[in-house]
Amino acid sequence: MASKSSGKFFIASIVTFIIVFGLINVLLSSMQDVAKAVVTPESMTAADVAERIKPVAAVYIGEAPVIVAAVESTGAANGEQVVKNVCALCHSSGMMSSPKLGNAKDWAPRIEQGIDTLYSNAINGFNMMPARGGNPALSDDEVKAAVDHMISQAK
Ligand code: HEC
Repeated sequence: MASKSSGKFFIASIVTFIIVFGLINVLLSSMQDVAKAVVTPESMTAADVAERIKPVAAVYIGEAPVIVAAVESTGAANGEQVVKNVCALCHSSGMMSSPKLGNAKDWAPRIEQGIDTLYSNAINGFNMMPARGGNPALSDDEVKAAVDHMISQAK
């Protein structure tokens, strides 16, 4: 009966092989998922930052905020461009009670603090306002130019 038992052994080893192979496959693909889900500071966009630090009970009224990719520093301080690409994410809708773009009433008490306070709060962060609007690629001058542009729109 040698042939019968070696036949069983053959089938058993195929079954074992399939199970082991299946397990390795599942393991490998779950490892890939983990690797894909890893978040590095570099991979975070302003939108990611906003998502992480948003208040628990935020209520959004009006259009959904536009999600922007992190903007590379252009070197030249173009306030309007920076506001459009980075700051508008929150400030266009007044998200998280940020002073709304173009709303003089929102900005008046801010402007009263003096331009240096506004610059430094925009650069270093202030409560729910992330440092450099959440984009560390922005230079001081670009952030200042953006603040200047915001203020000019709110008068
Ligand atoms: C993630 C959302 C978010 C982004 C992006 C953002 N802000 Fe703000 N910002 C806020 C919030 C919220 C406040 C209100 C903070 C407070 O008063 O507690 C604020 C306040 C400010 C103020 C007023 C600070 C003060 O002293 O009253 C300035 C100036 C400002 N932001 C500039 C900017 C600039 C410039 C950018 C783009 C480079 C930017 N913000 C991007 C959320 C944001």
